[in-house]
Parts: sequence; C-alpha cells; structure tokens
Amino acid sequence: MRARPPSMRVNCCKRNCCKKIVARLSRLMSDEEYEIEAGGELLMHSYETLPDNCKKYWKKRYQLFHKFDEGIYMTSELWYSVTPELMAIFTATLIAELMPDARNVLDICCGGGGNTIQFANFFETVGAIDINALNEQCTRHNAAVYGVEEKIWSHIGDWNEMCKLVNGKVCQDWIPENLRKSADTNHIFDFIFASPPWGGPAYTKTGEDFDVINMEPFGLDRFIKQLLQYTENIGLFLPKSSNLDQLRQVTSDNFGDGLCRIIYLYHDDYCSGMLALFGTALTDPNFTCD
Ligand SMILES: C[S@@+](CC[C@H](N)C(=O)[O-])C[C@H]1O[C@@H](n2cnc3c(N)ncnc32)[C@H](O)[C@@H]1O
Repeated sequence: MRARPPSMRVNCCKRNCCKKIVARLSRLMSDEEYEIEAGGELLMHSYETLPDNCKKYWKKRYQLFHKFDEGIYMTSELWYSVTPELMAIFTATLIAELMPDARNVLDICCGGGGNTIQFANFFETVGAIDINALNEQCTRHNAAVYGVEEKIWSHIGDWNEMCKLVNGKVCQDWIPENLRKSADTNHIFDFIFASPPWGGPAYTKTGEDFDVINMEPFGLDRFIKQLLQYTENIGLFLPKSSNLDQLRQVTSDNFGDGLCRIIYLYHDDYCSGMLALFGTALTDPNFTCD
C-alpha cells in the first residue's frame, strides 16, 4: 500500500480508535482511492481540522452517520447537506412499505450517501448519481463503511445533461447494461429519489414561500418531466416552505388526477423539510403514515 498522503491523517477522535480506522480503511480502499485528496480537501476530520463554517455541525456527526468513527468521508458541503440517518431510514422504510415489490432505485444527488445507504438496506440495487466527483467518492466509500457497497452503482454527471434525449430517445448510456430497458418504457427504475440542492443553510432567511418552479438547478416542473422519462414513482426532499400552490399545479400538469403526498420531516423537533411523493404507488390515499 502506498504511504498515506497528508489528507488521510486519521487522528480523528478522542477514543484512540485511529488504528482501527486505518486498518478498516486499508481493507475498504484501493490505492486509487487514496487519490481522493486530489481535490485538495480533507475528507476525515477532527474538530480542529474542520473548516470554520462547518464546526457547528460537528456535534451532530453521529446523527448524520452513526458509524462516523468507522471512517466516514465528508466534503465540507456535505456537513450541512447530508440527510441525517434517522430521516434517511424513515424515507427508505416508507418507500419500501408503499412499494413492497420495488427492486431498482435511483438516488440523483447522492451527496455523501445518507439516503443511498439506507435505500440499499431495503432494495436490490441503488444507483447513486452526483455532479461532484468527491461527493460520489464519499458515497461509495461510506456505503462500504455500512457494508452495502455491492448493492450500489454510481455515476458522476450533471443530471440535466444525462437526461437529455438522444436521437429522440431516452438516454440510458449511463445505466449499467443489466438494468437498461427497452426504449419505449419509462419503467427503468421502480423509484427515483432526489434531495436536490436548495441553497444550503442560507435558504430559510427569505421568510417567503420557496419557489419550487424556479429553483436551481432543478426547477420542479422540468425536473418531474425529466424523471418521468425513467420512472412513474418519484420522491423529492424539498424545503419545508415550498410553495404548495406550485406543487399542486405541477402535480395536476404532470399527473392529471393523480395526487402528491407531502410529509413534513422533523429531526430533533425541528422541521427539516418536506418529502413530496408523486406516482400512484406512493400516493395511495388508503395508506396512512405513522
Ligand atoms: C443536498 S445534497 C444531497 C445529500 C444526500 N441525499 C446525502 O444524504 O448525502 C445535494 C447534492 O446534489 C448534487 N448536485 C448538484 N447539482 C447536481 C446536478 N446537476 N446533477 C447531479 N447532482 C447534482 C450536489 O453535488 C450535492 O452532492
């Protein structure tokens, strides 16, 4: 094994478990994955090495990943954008209950793998996509920490580019060959989830309804149309202040009489956002959510 580069320092905790972490990382990572410092960013931290703007999230590290001390990777962006583990477990459990036959799931915007890892605990295969190569590395690595790496395939790319039609057909080039379907179906994935960026910690400061139609990089109407090329069942994690009239309009425009199920997710008694579910299987009015 190559010598660890400086960014792989693992004096990360006060419990003297660093040797265990090094041993586990040695098993988990190939030499190439040590190149992860190429982006110049430290991915395993102590409180001291954490960038100042992330320090306030340090005390929540076990809420993000209860296996944090086993060598979890996080980019600085991920400290405030990873889905806390309990919320990700809730989401995956709910989808599995609503769609007991689902096998093949896609997580666009996989980030550090918070959601991807929990989906992998319930479904046969989970695709993980992210535009940011370091985040995609974090997802793959963190999935290995949780022992679910074999259920996950990943792709680095910009969703807005990946979903463009090619010669009038839905592009499946980025999907593993064994999961591709015939050109005339949108049943390529049983379910697609996305927790898209919505401005990070600053977004709540406006105090107004959040404009989901014009959100970047995925305006809701266009996003739903893109996703419907690949699935009939969609789950999006959106700001708690998302404009409900816009959600109603997008639902009616894309699903006719179909419904949108909205679930406000609380973490530590604080509402972190809403889960908006679209598609017949996910919006059955007879299903009640505890
Ligand atoms: C809120 S984070 C997702 C957090 C993730 N669910 C988790 O638990 O770690 C949003 C992610 O979307 C990715 N992203 C932003 N624009 C994208 C695009 N155009 N295509 C794909 N991924 C994108 C970002 O790199 C970031 O990792």
